[in-house]
Amino acid sequence: MSTVLLVGAGRHQRRAILRAQELGHTVVAVDRNPDALGLAVADVAEAVDFTDVAAVVEVGRRHAVEGVLTVSADRAVPVVAAVAAELGLPGIGVETAHLMTHKIAMRRTLADAGVPQPRFAGARDLQSARAALAATGVPAVLKPADSGGQRGVFYVESQDELDAHLHVALAESPTDEAIVESFHDSLELNGIVIARGGEAFPLTLSDRLRPPGVGFGVGWIHVYPASIYGDVLAEAERIAVHAVHALGLRDGIAFPQLLVDDDGSIRVVEVAARIPGGQMADLVRHAVGVDLVEVAVRQALGQEVPDDLVLPRFKQALAIRFLTAQPGPLPTGKVIAVGSLEPVRAATGVVQADTYLQVGETIRPVRLDGDRRGYVIATADTSVEALERAENAARLLEVEVEAA
Ligand SMILES: Nc1ncnc2c1ncn2[C@@H]1O[C@H](COP(=O)(O)OP(=O)(O)O)[C@@H](O)[C@H]1O
Ligand SMILES: [Mg+2]
Repeated sequence: MSTVLLVGAGRHQRRAILRAQELGHTVVAVDRNPDALGLAVADVAEAVDFTDVAAVVEVGRRHAVEGVLTVSADRAVPVVAAVAAELGLPGIGVETAHLMTHKIAMRRTLADAGVPQPRFAGARDLQSARAALAATGVPAVLKPADSGGQRGVFYVESQDELDAHLHVALAESPTDEAIVESFHDSLELNGIVIARGGEAFPLTLSDRLRPPGVGFGVGWIHVYPASIYGDVLAEAERIAVHAVHALGLRDGIAFPQLLVDDDGSIRVVEVAARIPGGQMADLVRHAVGVDLVEVAVRQALGQEVPDDLVLPRFKQALAIRFLTAQPGPLPTGKVIAVGSLEPVRAATGVVQADTYLQVGETIRPVRLDGDRRGYVIATADTSVEALERAENAARLLEVEVEAA
């Protein structure tokens, strides 16, 4: 068996570390936070800030790792690629890692390849941001060029709003760049595309529902299968695969996000080069029986990924309801008591549920990915029924907040 290096070892990486160990591998993990939940279960844990590529390389070399990967953390993707290149390990390449994490570079590449996407322009300061908004028109979306998890993402209806939010968007970007895009009030889809030896295929497509208001970019419900069908579904799959090829991903798991208008026109939001966070790996496992962590570990080690590991074993309708504030199932306010998950887990159709809520924390209206404080996954014969079951089960968690 092999030694693999996990870059980033927070809550969302913890399960991947355990899974890699189950598969017989030794896991070396780095995270800047010495108390990171994943470090506690790794075979070798080092408190290293992964933005320091040289330090991560040093850890990898010292432990003679044979593969390097990340799960969920977009900021770790270029680091993983650089470490792999430096240590001569399999990787997606520094260039592809850049194109798949830097939204302006990505959009330019997709434009060259003829992949449909929102109008866009880059911005570094007030002047270029205003020019960008003039080019895209309103409504628009302002976001950091290279961040994630909906940090610094704003819906913008006027130049005043752009001016007001620009500094936050720029501040969330390690390179002080932002992008302005035309906003499309469309159905959003999440895809999982797997590339092997330069050939990509779509594994799953699911609806990603979002709340109204400031949290407009946060996925608070996932529903599988996606609600599109026929020609539109085929076109969405074709565009997802085209985008992955255009960005140069030859071996890896890609996470395309698409917008689909009522008239069937499709635009790419972005394509990430990693296993997504937010329970997407669970979605894939319950929906089609494929273990993305196993696929990612094999690819990181340069091992072949046979069909029986990546092709759907079945198709199971399901829904994931994240635990978020109203109009989600949770109240807002300071938490004074969190009830048992048992009734949630015992509810009809529920296959998995968890919560990270802690007494003393404040539940805020949904604005960021991080405002999702747990989730419920339910299956059923149809996606509509699965969603109903997940909603019903989510309401069974009793959370008490301080009276306002
Ligand atoms: N141009 C757009 N039109 C409509 N919605 C958008 C647009 N850009 C982003 N969004 C919404 O915001 C979310 C986050 O944007 P994204 O570019 O994926 O940034 P992040 O890196 O934070 O995930 C998207 O998943 C989508 O829901
Ligand atoms: Mg995204």
